Parts: sequence; C-alpha cells; structure tokens
Amino acid sequence: MSQLFGVALRGTGSCLPARVVPNDEFTDTLNLDTSDEWIRSRTGIRERRFAGLGETSSSLGTVAARRALESAGLTPDELDLVICATVTPDLMSPATACLIQAALGCRHIPAFDLSAACSGFLFALSVAAQYIRTGTARHALVVGAEVLSRAIDFTDRNSCILFGDGAGAVVLSATPVLTAGLRSIRLYSDGTRQDLIQVPSKVTPNPAPGAPLQPRLEFLRIVGREVFRFAVTRMIELIEQAETDCREMGLAGIDVLIPHQVNQRIIDAAIESCGFPAEKVMVNLDRYGNTSAASVPIALDEALRTGRGKPGDTVLLVAFGGGLTWSSAILTL
Ligand SMILES: CC(C)(COP(=O)(O)OP(=O)(O)OC[C@H]1O[C@@H](n2cnc3c(N)ncnc32)[C@H](O)[C@@H]1OP(=O)(O)O)[C@@H](O)C(=O)NCCC(=O)NCCS
Repeated sequence: MSQLFGVALRGTGSCLPARVVPNDEFTDTLNLDTSDEWIRSRTGIRERRFAGLGETSSSLGTVAARRALESAGLTPDELDLVICATVTPDLMSPATACLIQAALGCRHIPAFDLSAACSGFLFALSVAAQYIRTGTARHALVVGAEVLSRAIDFTDRNSCILFGDGAGAVVLSATPVLTAGLRSIRLYSDGTRQDLIQVPSKVTPNPAPGAPLQPRLEFLRIVGREVFRFAVTRMIELIEQAETDCREMGLAGIDVLIPHQVNQRIIDAAIESCGFPAEKVMVNLDRYGNTSAASVPIALDEALRTGRGKPGDTVLLVAFGGGLTWSSAILTL
C-alpha cells in the first residue's frame, strides 16, 4: 500500500464585511414587527455583518484565503487543491472556488464548490483530508463563504434576523505523523427532510408549463421550530459520539468546542444535556449571526487569533443545517 499522511491544520483566516447591522435596523429601517429584545433573548444575536456593494462569496473568500495562506506561511502557487463550501455562490457556474483560485493566482489545480449548507465547511474539510491522506495533495485550501443577505426575505421576521455574511478559510497540509491534526470526522445527511431549510436558486429543474422564461427569484426559507429541535438532537448526538472518538481521553480531552453559530439556545440546550462545560464553547454568533458554511471556519480562526485555542489543543467542530446535514470533526491544533 502507498504511504498515508496525517492532515495538519497549517493556517486559518477569515473575512467579515465592514457593514455592521444591529438588530434595531430590522425595526427602524425595515419596519419589521420584531425587537432587539426578542432577537437577543430568542437567538443571542446582537448584530451581524452584511456584504457591501461588489462584495460576494468569492471576494470575501479570497481575503479569508489570503489570510489563511499568510498564517500558514505558504504562497498560492504551493496549493494543490481549492474547495469552497457555499450555498450563495457568485454564479451557478463557474464555481466560486475557481474565482478564488484565479484571484489568488494559483496553478492549474482542481478547484470546485461543495454544497452542504451549514455543514458545508466540514464536508469540504473531509474531502480535502482524503486528498491529503492519500498523498494526492500536499497543501489544500478549504473555504466557507456566504452572502446570505442576498438570499433572505426581509419581510420574513422568522428568518431574516438570523443570518449574516462572511468567509473563513483553512490551509491543510500533509504531515508524516498519521495521528497529527485531524483525528476523526463524521458526516451525515437526511434528504427526506429537505423541506426544513431551503435556498431556492434561479435554476428550476421543472418549470411550470407556460411559466415565464426567467423564473421568479425566491428566498431562503426555514421551518425554524423544527430545525431547532433537529439541531439540538443532532448536536447532542455528535457530542456523545465525540466522546467515543476521543477514545481514552474522553470529552475531558476537548479543549474547545466550536459549534455552528446558529442560536445560543440551541448550543445551551445541547451542552447542558451532555454536561459539557460552557466555558469551553466558542461563541461569536452575537456579533455575526448565522453565516452558514462560513460559521465554523470564522469561529475557528477567531479562537486561534484570540488565544482561545492554542497549538496542541484539541478542538471539536460541530455543524448542522440544510439537507438536512450534520457533521463533526476532532482536530488537534
Ligand atoms: C427561528 C427561531 C429563532 C424561532 O425561535 P422560537 O423560540 O423557536 O420561536 P417560535 O418559532 O416558537 O415562535 C414564537 C413566536 O415568535 C414569533 N416570531 C418569530 N420570529 C420573530 C421575530 N423576529 N420577532 C418577533 N417575533 C417573532 C413567531 O411568529 C411566534 O409567534 P406566535 O406564537 O404568535 O405564532 C428558532 O426556532 C431557531 O433558531 N430555529 C433554527 C433556525 C434555523 O433554521 N437556522 C438555519 C439552519 S441552521
């Protein structure tokens, strides 16, 4: 058998748009029947960032990628693979990853997008890890990038208050130490519950007879209460599985839990049920809201930059979202 490699986290980066949108903007500017108090108490979100004119998933993703490369001490021409997880690509085709590849000035390496909603980053991480483990790639860039402000319905108070824009990126590198870096990863999907979270695109697989050639652009839609229940149940399950995946060190060996930044009440309910200490949980949803595929890599980058996660620490990443999909990874920094 040919040689296998370990998958080390070599660098991280993130990019948040400059425009801060506080909760009050939904009442003051959009005249929505909601309040700062309702949003804070039911979700934990105080504000989020929205992309400005000309900012897209690829432009935010490119900045996050440059920062990740810088922290990895690598140049774009050293990359062997680019994967971008997004549900808000700049275009249906070419892939946002190709736009990022071009902006960075990489060689003619494979660059493609992956769609698994809020689990997208962990799904992309698992693909990149396979390339690296088998020696197909030495250095891989994985980006999660979203401009959900372009997909939400600003008349729907149930959903529009939840989301924000941003991008996070990591560089993974091959290491001869098989047990270094990425220790385990779990991915799950349940397409039978596809209706709970949807981001319709302009492409319709089945236009109605006589429908106009340009189909109506529809908006992101969630069945919030159902998703809430799903998220808590799956997050508990993923943390319990992590206890097994951590083997002898158990959950006590996890230094930082980085969950998908969706709702403070979801996170609280799950960690309380598992008896996981709140002080070990990385939360930034109060400032950025739910940035879907970008949420976990943004939080991971912030954890490293602020010293919440230090070299040698073990981190549990947990995500769940449209598909439905849910996923986790255990990573030693
Ligand atoms: C959406 C979410 C914040 C709603 O919180 P909740 O506590 O479950 O609230 P409910 O859905 O039970 O609604 C309670 C009431 O608040 C109302 N409400 C919903 N959004 C509101 C808002 N922004 N402001 C004020 N009231 C609001 C509802 O209309 C409902 O009113 P009713 O009782 O008169 O029908 C929560 O369910 C959630 O975070 N779900 C997951 C979100 C998601 O899908 N994320 C994307 C995938 S990861």
